[in-house]
Amino acid sequence: MSDLSIIGLGAMGSALAATYLDRGLRVTVWNRTPARAQPLVERGARQATDAAEAIAASPVTLISLLDYPATRGVLEDAAAALPNRDLIQLTNGSPEQVRHMAAWVEARGARYLDGAIMVTPEMVGQPDAFVLYSGPEALYRDHEARLRLLGEPAYLGEDIALATVHDVALLSAMFGMFGGYLHAAALLHAQAISVTDATPMVTSVLHAMIGLLPETAREIDAGDSPQPGSNNLMMATALRNIVQSSHELGVRDGLMDAIRQLFDRGVAEGLGARDISALVPLLQAPPRPPAP
Ligand SMILES: NC(=O)c1ccc[n+]([C@@H]2O[C@H](COP(=O)([O-])OP(=O)(O)OC[C@H]3O[C@@H](n4cnc5c(N)ncnc54)[C@H](OP(=O)(O)O)[C@@H]3O)[C@@H](O)[C@H]2O)c1
Repeated sequence: MSDLSIIGLGAMGSALAATYLDRGLRVTVWNRTPARAQPLVERGARQATDAAEAIAASPVTLISLLDYPATRGVLEDAAAALPNRDLIQLTNGSPEQVRHMAAWVEARGARYLDGAIMVTPEMVGQPDAFVLYSGPEALYRDHEARLRLLGEPAYLGEDIALATVHDVALLSAMFGMFGGYLHAAALLHAQAISVTDATPMVTSVLHAMIGLLPETAREIDAGDSPQPGSNNLMMATALRNIVQSSHELGVRDGLMDAIRQLFDRGVAEGLGARDISALVPLLQAPPRPPAP
């Protein structure tokens, strides 16, 4: 018997397995493309011939695959091995995907915890790494000590979708920053300006703006948007200038025009004198009826 099994040996799954092997745990691994297991086998991992064998080899299996359809395909083939096993799903997905998968797995006799790794593979097991978890607390506590080896764990609660809701929210903030930075780089590049030279200025602006987020969050939670020095009308005007500049410099405007539309809509709805926190309700669609 191994201490744990890992299904999926992409960049992340391989990092998870390597971290546990470095800590002296007995690890069984399985990957659709068997050759990806070789570096881990050389470090002491046992390679299962299929996913069912990997799940049967340990009390708990960590899953790190591309997406939920891939997970479902793998687990359908391994369903006979699921009774009395624990699965910890570390694959990125959506809240509905998580709920459906949890119900599907539990109906086949396994316990199911969801997790979201908030760092890159190189950072797994390092001091700054952190991982979010949600689902049955007893299941989380049973494995907490070993999960801690991957990074600081944050247990968010019994609702199985909580880790994924946080994951997609945190990633939205991250991709928003990357998208803005890529647009900035395209504008600079279009004028043959060194992106390398300008990037310290970009990071300086971003650092200053990040400091505003706790107060913005307080306003959003309180539903209370003050009339600040930097108001939405001023920002909508700047965004129009960014879109216009993009056209002039031959840069596609799609990323920034979506943000311009949000601010223009805010101004049209009478929020021009308010802070950005007032725009959050404009992003929220009416709730959908629950799935049958
Ligand atoms: N990399 C990161 O920075 C990072 C950070 C946080 C979270 N994550 C999450 O970790 C998960 C894995 O990411 P990764 O970076 O390891 O991706 P990756 O390197 O692209 O690896 C994808 C893995 O999924 C497997 N796979 C894909 N389709 C499959 C299918 N239909 N059936 C069976 N296996 C399939 C691949 O198997 P093959 O080897 O056979 O192709 C491989 O093991 C994702 O959900 C990602 O969002 C990644």
